[in-house]
Amino acid sequence: MSHSLLLPANAPFGPDEIAALNRALGAASPTQRAWLSGFLAGAEAANASANALAQPAPAAAAQAAPRAPLLILFASESGNAEALAADARRAAQKLGFAPKVLDMADASPADLARGGNAIIIASTWGEGDPPQRAENFVSALLAEDAPRLETLRYAVLALGDRAYARFCETGRRIDERLAALGAARLAERIECDLDYAGPAASWIEKTLPAFAPPNAEPGPGLSPPGTSAGAPGGADVIHVDFARNPFGPTNPFPAALVERTNLRSSRADGEAFHIEIDLDGSGFAWEPGDSLAFHPRNDPSLVKEILSAVGLAGDAALDETLTGERDITTLTLPLVAKYQQITSDAELEKLLAEPARVEKFLAGRQPLDLFEDFPHALAPEALSGLFRKLPPRAYSIASSRKATASAAHLLVAAVRYEKHGRARSGVATIDLAERRDLGGRLPVHLKPNPRFRLPADPRTRVIMIGPGTGVAPFRAFLQEREAIGVSGGSWLFFGHRRFTHDFLYQLEWQEWLKSGILERIDLAFSRDQPEKIYVQDRMWEARRDLYAWIAEGAHLYVCGDAKAMARDVHAALLRIIAEQGACDPAEAEARLGEMVRSGRYLRDVY
Ligand SMILES: Cc1cc2nc3c(=O)[nH]c(=O)nc-3n(C[C@H](O)[C@H](O)[C@H](O)COP(=O)(O)OP(=O)(O)OC[C@H]3O[C@@H](n4cnc5c(N)ncnc54)[C@H](O)[C@@H]3O)c2cc1C
Ligand SMILES: Cc1cc2nc3c(=O)[nH]c(=O)nc-3n(C[C@H](O)[C@H](O)[C@H](O)COP(=O)(O)O)c2cc1C
Repeated sequence: MSHSLLLPANAPFGPDEIAALNRALGAASPTQRAWLSGFLAGAEAANASANALAQPAPAAAAQAAPRAPLLILFASESGNAEALAADARRAAQKLGFAPKVLDMADASPADLARGGNAIIIASTWGEGDPPQRAENFVSALLAEDAPRLETLRYAVLALGDRAYARFCETGRRIDERLAALGAARLAERIECDLDYAGPAASWIEKTLPAFAPPNAEPGPGLSPPGTSAGAPGGADVIHVDFARNPFGPTNPFPAALVERTNLRSSRADGEAFHIEIDLDGSGFAWEPGDSLAFHPRNDPSLVKEILSAVGLAGDAALDETLTGERDITTLTLPLVAKYQQITSDAELEKLLAEPARVEKFLAGRQPLDLFEDFPHALAPEALSGLFRKLPPRAYSIASSRKATASAAHLLVAAVRYEKHGRARSGVATIDLAERRDLGGRLPVHLKPNPRFRLPADPRTRVIMIGPGTGVAPFRAFLQEREAIGVSGGSWLFFGHRRFTHDFLYQLEWQEWLKSGILERIDLAFSRDQPEKIYVQDRMWEARRDLYAWIAEGAHLYVCGDAKAMARDVHAALLRIIAEQGACDPAEAEARLGEMVRSGRYLRDVY
């Protein structure tokens, strides 16, 4: 930490000034350095009262009880980083900071260039991309003309999923870029996997005090840097309260499974289940746009295959741990490396030394493939320690409480495929489809999505683009609009493979068209004609009307497949805006970007 307080050669001072300041900083004690950094932060805040970073601060940090300004900047797609930002704000307030939470969509690197303290909480989406609303901020930060950030003190909390090759890429890139632009990293970045709640809470607890000026009024548990107050070993650290409902990620609600019906025909090439669960007693107050996270159990036969592959067949306790608690289907580079370490397998060592080969090996394989291709006997703890915690799976709620009371409806596409000569099945979808009895209990928690809501003014028009299971939240939207008596002003683009096999909730859309709740529906059945037709093709055909709706203020929603559909729909929207709005691609991009920022172009894609 003391080294990070020495000025870099590219600091905005002359060489003599840098040398003089470094002499003083190098000789300063930790307490003196902490005082100085707090003094500068306080003075900076007082000078910049008009900007987002600077909350009103005392004239000098040496005066009693300044509240150190702290920006908590988040980049979030599905709300996890945003919720953590709110948690960090509460924790910071308790510690006596003056925190301000800001969405990256509403910030620019120029805000950071004004200096001060910032905690950045960022998730990663797509294949290593920033969340959509943060794209502009991140590209401006990475651009050559990004401002220097010598007066910024920061720390980064990155969210991600180790199943993706570019784990926590956005947080990593932001962190590295801030340091390259001269900002002072006050704490090492934490990279959190899907089971982020615990690690994130303790990182926030540990990191916040690093930002405090030494004379800040101690909140409960705050030991200002450089003092020896408080019990050793972090016993005085505050505890972030992540639970806002008794039932949450660590304590899911046991909901009754009431109904399960396959909505695709028996001749379709897959299944999509309409599922009803009863949430009576959960205390969940869901809104259209929210999801439920289901805590699945693994396929018992896969667990048995794994146990016998590593010589542990018949270990009942381990069987239960793997079935209920461990992610036994995700193969990652760290898992392979750990397995190699445990087994000292020479072939695997060679494979790991060649990044291109190991990447190819990982693609589409699961831990069982690893155990069979590089067989070794393992101790029970070694096997169990290879796997991360089994993550819950999110499902959009397909119903409105105004229409179905305590019953929540889900639309779940069964995942079954073959890869590397083995039939594979999705953990959660096949658990829901095959291994749960009607009347049995499903552990679930609510995943609110406040960024995917119907417009506040019910007269605002809505355009909903939701092929496949992406249509689920739009059923909730229309149930809601029907229940509050809103007619018209709604347009659905739905697509799937075949009209006769795959028209999910067909009768309901037809009823809503008849009653006027749904004003228009455009359908794209990709395999009903020789050439493939998708929702983006229907959007292009309807571009004149679509543009008119957008120009009149309609909100645009996209839900479903992130890899192909959401990208193609986005490209179609850009083309439509450019052609119908008579502007060049850059201007179309800017207009769509503005719709994102103003909350009129909303996506819930996966
Ligand atoms: C906010 C949100 C909302 C969601 N809403 C819904 C919803 O309403 N309905 C819904 O059905 N899903 C929804 N999902 C997706 C859902 O959470 C699960 O990811 C999905 O159901 C698969 O879960 P699983 O456990 O059955 O599959 P997993 O065991 O997680 O397996 C899925 C993985 O298998 C691999 N895979 C799948 N198919 C193939 C293939 N053909 N070839 C090669 N590899 C393949 C891929 O690596 C894929 O990631 C949503 C996701 C999010 C984040
Ligand atoms: C479609 C999709 C793509 C994702 N891509 C990545 C990725 O490339 N790298 C990564 O580390 N995490 C990835 N994730 C995981 C998210 O970063 C993780 O779920 C995070 O907690 C989401 O936080 P948010 O709700 O704040 O956006 C992806 C998740 C989804 C659903």
